[in-house]
Amino acid sequence: MGVLSKRPKGTKDVLPAESYKWKAIESRMSGVAELFGFREIRFPTFEHTEVFTRSVGDTTDVVQKEMYTFKDKGDRSITLKPEGTAGTVRAMLENGLLNEALPQKVYYITPAFRYEKAQAGRLREFHQFGCEMFGSADPAADAELICLAQSVLGLLNLDDVRLEINSIGCPECRKSYQEALLAYFNAHLDALCETCHDRLRKNPMRILDCKNPECAEIAKSAPQITHYLCADCQAHFERVQRYLQEMDIAYTVNPTIVRGLDYYTRTVFEFIADDIGAQSTVCGGGRYDGLVELMGGKPMPALGFAMGLERLLIAIESRGWKIDPPTPCQLYLASVGEAAAAKAVVLTADLRRSGIYAECDTMGRGLKAQMKYADKIGAKTTAVIGDEELASGQLKIKDMKTGDITSSTFDTLCDDIWECLSQKEPRNPREIREEMTNDLGEELVQRFMSHMLGGKISGTRNMPEIDGFDDLKDLDKE
Ligand code: HAM
Repeated sequence: MGVLSKRPKGTKDVLPAESYKWKAIESRMSGVAELFGFREIRFPTFEHTEVFTRSVGDTTDVVQKEMYTFKDKGDRSITLKPEGTAGTVRAMLENGLLNEALPQKVYYITPAFRYEKAQAGRLREFHQFGCEMFGSADPAADAELICLAQSVLGLLNLDDVRLEINSIGCPECRKSYQEALLAYFNAHLDALCETCHDRLRKNPMRILDCKNPECAEIAKSAPQITHYLCADCQAHFERVQRYLQEMDIAYTVNPTIVRGLDYYTRTVFEFIADDIGAQSTVCGGGRYDGLVELMGGKPMPALGFAMGLERLLIAIESRGWKIDPPTPCQLYLASVGEAAAAKAVVLTADLRRSGIYAECDTMGRGLKAQMKYADKIGAKTTAVIGDEELASGQLKIKDMKTGDITSSTFDTLCDDIWECLSQKEPRNPREIREEMTNDLGEELVQRFMSHMLGGKISGTRNMPEIDGFDDLKDLDKE
């Protein structure tokens, strides 16, 4: 197959049969992030290359081997973002957000690009949901962020995913650790790969996450950072753990987690889904207390995490969680003859304006082919307009599941369809709740619910009338 009809290796097309799943998980993610006070930030797909070499670190695999870097027509070195943190820090600094009330909390959903060996769960273009928090050095912030990541995973029905944490200390306590690493790896010099020889001189900690199997084997027995933490870093790590325990967040300390990017300090963590193959880390993050200053800002503690959407989807699918597909077509309005076809087009537009997902023929098909198409798209009801219907203004709505027929007219079609659909399918209380929230706002809905459940509230107004209210009450008790 030629390049015109084949996507680049390591990329994915998200087709309509899948894209609703992306939308569903993205809306859950942003919903939880906003509940924790994070607001969305959007930043460019490419940055000046130095944004990444400086922050991610020029001895990392990401910078040395994986970046999509090119010269633009103005001879500037440009790089497609391999992750979201560096661009976020650049944007926060450039737009002065770090001079505003702290902490600053932002989240993003963004594509990222790494030239990696493509395999299941490892792509060259992938997508990250990331959260970044600026201004707090307190262990409570570490706990808040981990709790946020865990809540997102919980809402995606991934509460069985494991949390591993570690502390990689501050530049001060890392000095003695670097010396210990230097001594250890020098003793294994012959077995290390070319890149790691270079790393040994510049940044021996990077050898710990080299993907070369021989280096990885040697790294297994290397000295561990946890034995070299200074008193402050040790106290910070203990406090983070205490918070996690008090918040009932299960974790294990894994002293081998060092993360593949240079900017990390102190707490680092990963969430791992054991059942999704070799690429099992669905979320990674930690503190980066030195990065804002390194990028030209004043010293400011910061921390964050990112989750890979593709890996999350694999984990969700492997657990058999079925995300509700979008509402199927509610009415297919078939037609016979030119005048009826024109009427169907206009009526369909009216139905759509009233919020009904309706379809009519735009292919010039005969009635049989139209009905076949209606069946294919799973239309819940159908109606046919022919000469007779045109003359009388009346038509029949057929329920495609039960075969029931309901009489209707051109003028009342919208109301009759709503009636027809709501009789056949009692509405899901969750949907009603969501609809109310959109219309009224969460606060008013909550007050309304607590009022109906017997709580005392004052000043409630504009309360809607709702069918199926008992179900709604049950939902709120859940
Ligand atoms: P990272 O561990 O490099 O951290 O990536 C975060 C997540 O992105 C991984 O846990 C994984 O789920 C997903 N991911 C990474 N590479 C790929 C790939 N090639 N294909 C598919 N998914 C992938 C960061 O990027 C940091 N910026 C996270 C962070 C934010 N730390 C602090 N703030």
